[in-house]
Amino acid sequence: MSDHHPEIDMSEVYQLPPQEVNLADFPADEEWILDVGGGGEGIIGRMKGRQVVAIDRRRPELEGTANEALKLVMDARELQFLENSFGTVTLFFTLMYIPFGDLDTIFSEVARVLKPGGALLIWDVNVEVPRDTEEKYFMVPLTVTFPDGTKKETGYGSKMRNQDMGSFVSAAEKHGFEVVDHDTIGLTFYTRLALRKG
Ligand SMILES: C[S@@+](CC[C@H](N)C(=O)[O-])C[C@H]1O[C@@H](n2cnc3c(N)ncnc32)[C@H](O)[C@@H]1O
Repeated sequence: MSDHHPEIDMSEVYQLPPQEVNLADFPADEEWILDVGGGGEGIIGRMKGRQVVAIDRRRPELEGTANEALKLVMDARELQFLENSFGTVTLFFTLMYIPFGDLDTIFSEVARVLKPGGALLIWDVNVEVPRDTEEKYFMVPLTVTFPDGTKKETGYGSKMRNQDMGSFVSAAEKHGFEVVDHDTIGLTFYTRLALRKG
């Protein structure tokens, strides 16, 4: 698991079938990209390099990340950036770690630091908890294919819960975001939202 829980008993982990994400490059002009929860594999920083500011509340997650992004230890519930700082915000398999009760705060913070008309890009996984399950966690093995065709095998795990694109999108919509594109491959989804403000 990327969030390093060495004490986790694997018999408590519900393994989802292996999933694939085909990362399409996205235009971000000359503007900064904020990657929230950008530690771990640092996938967005690998793709967009020095244009990325990666924040994660766990320093070890950032220390283990090999890419050219600028890395800052910061909590997404209290972003330390001024209003309208970024053209794009990315959440690559980060929302699965965020308690539903924190979504409002985080989308409000993201809307604050994003420029009007800016883009919010989300990649995550739809999880349906099986009936009568005892497992406390889920784990999704993932193959990420970058725009240049290179691949990265990884896996992300978090606390067991039902979650889907709709639950995240409806939380984001309360803060001025509108879906402009979405795609589902197997259990994973990608959605692009635009910020209407000002
Ligand atoms: C599965 S990892 C994300 C994967 C990563 N984007 C990548 O490219 O491999 C989720 C990350 O979100 C971080 N995180 C969870 N809650 C956070 C918060 N409130 N603020 C900042 N980071 C948070 C965790 O520390 C963890 O590193």
